[in-house]
Amino acid sequence: MAKTSELLIIGGDGDLAIRKLYPALFSLEQAGELSEGFTIVGMARKPKSRDEVLKLIKGRLETSGRFYEEEWQRFANRIDLRQGDASSAESLSEYAKTIDLEKTQLTAYFAIPPSIFESVCNAMDAAGLVVPDTRVVVEKPLGTDKASFCKIHDSLAKIFAETQVYRIDHYLGKESVQNLLALRFANIFFGSLWNGSYIENVQITIAETVGVEDRHEFYEETGALRDMVQNHMMQLLCLVALEPPANKSADMIRGEKLKVLKSLKPIELADINAKTIRGQYAAGSIGDELVPGYQQEIGPEKDSNVETYVAIKAEIDNWRWANVPFYLRTGKRMSSRCAEIIIQFRNPKHNIFPSQTIGLAGNQLRIRLQPDEGIELHFLNKGPGVGETPMEEVSLSLDAPDSFAQHSFDAYARLLLEVLNGDQTLFVSADEVIASWDWIDQIRENWQTAKSKAYPYASGTMGPSQAVVMMARDSREWIDLSRQTNRPGIYGNSQST
Ligand code: BG6
Repeated sequence: MAKTSELLIIGGDGDLAIRKLYPALFSLEQAGELSEGFTIVGMARKPKSRDEVLKLIKGRLETSGRFYEEEWQRFANRIDLRQGDASSAESLSEYAKTIDLEKTQLTAYFAIPPSIFESVCNAMDAAGLVVPDTRVVVEKPLGTDKASFCKIHDSLAKIFAETQVYRIDHYLGKESVQNLLALRFANIFFGSLWNGSYIENVQITIAETVGVEDRHEFYEETGALRDMVQNHMMQLLCLVALEPPANKSADMIRGEKLKVLKSLKPIELADINAKTIRGQYAAGSIGDELVPGYQQEIGPEKDSNVETYVAIKAEIDNWRWANVPFYLRTGKRMSSRCAEIIIQFRNPKHNIFPSQTIGLAGNQLRIRLQPDEGIELHFLNKGPGVGETPMEEVSLSLDAPDSFAQHSFDAYARLLLEVLNGDQTLFVSADEVIASWDWIDQIRENWQTAKSKAYPYASGTMGPSQAVVMMARDSREWIDLSRQTNRPGIYGNSQST
């Protein structure tokens, strides 16, 4: 008989649980994706009653989207709340009495700081909660460098096999990120073009309009390189760059991503200021709102050199990507919230329209992750009229039909569903995390040696001018991400890039 499953959220009344996990689970409930006997247990240290926590969750759900009382009742019935200290074997033994692991598959979500992972793992083991099909879910920050990651990893690996550990990078749960694999490997169009003979450069941008919000202490320790590049951006780079896997199993996909990470060319000290640019937001305006700079936010007594923006020229030393730079940039308080991967193709070898194509960008494939998800192919079209009229840049929208939207979940929901299904494909392996820290640690060390400076950029802009200079040195530009909100369909209006 198939087992039922139970999700134990450790930190079950915390911010992550209330803001992300319960809402994601609720959306799975609404979509009928939660199985009959599925139960959720929130474990919290502080004595909060089940009613109190349910009220918090309900409050969150009511204000954010589709809410129906009947679905809520069904969902709430699945939730139990327990007071307990998950790092103590006694507390977990009490919990263990309530679950029959012969009949129920247990997943423990660690919505807690990594500093207590080790004691929680040991307590789970001592309480008899670790059997071969027990799963554990963890998410960033997983360390601040390779050494600290390895320490966290060791504490998990002592108790759990790698096949039991699900490391979340929420970017891998985004629809368009997953669609990237379909686009590349379910279609014939791009396969033969996907290499340095046809691709000129790749640009990956994650721009946010928010500042550091209330996370200054965390950011002082972390910076944009570790907060955004080591995980999200490097995962996106991997999915663009990986070789075709033999099949879509977790082992194959993760193995191919690992090869990409290991092929990243280290950024040496001599190149550090040319290939990386750090920035920190100064005062400026986001839309109509005037906003203070990072330094003003933390106060004059602290002199901070932390980066809230980073741009990197990454290079992959392998056959496919030789001489194809991957430009990465991410920052807070930029002019708009957008995340996009742009594949810039080379121009045709021989141009029979030289006077009509001056200054045009040529072919681009744009995979948009945010604010709305979608894919566009940009190409050149004959301009209207007769004679030598300039060509126009037009875009072909490859977006899924709207009808797909009703089946789309947020990143957490999708990833939770994969955990419950026991599929690790969308989760990051320990080897990948180690390889990405190797690359990042060297950049950080070189920043320290070179005493690299975070250049100020006005809030509401796309980062410091030094990042533009970095591109200009390569005779390139950052491709403009602004677009019409009312996007055209197939053969829509022209868009200049
Ligand atoms: C998190 C970072 O991992 O990703 C945050 O810690 C950042 O600083 C967030 O704001 C961005 O996620 P998204 O999905 O809103 O782009």
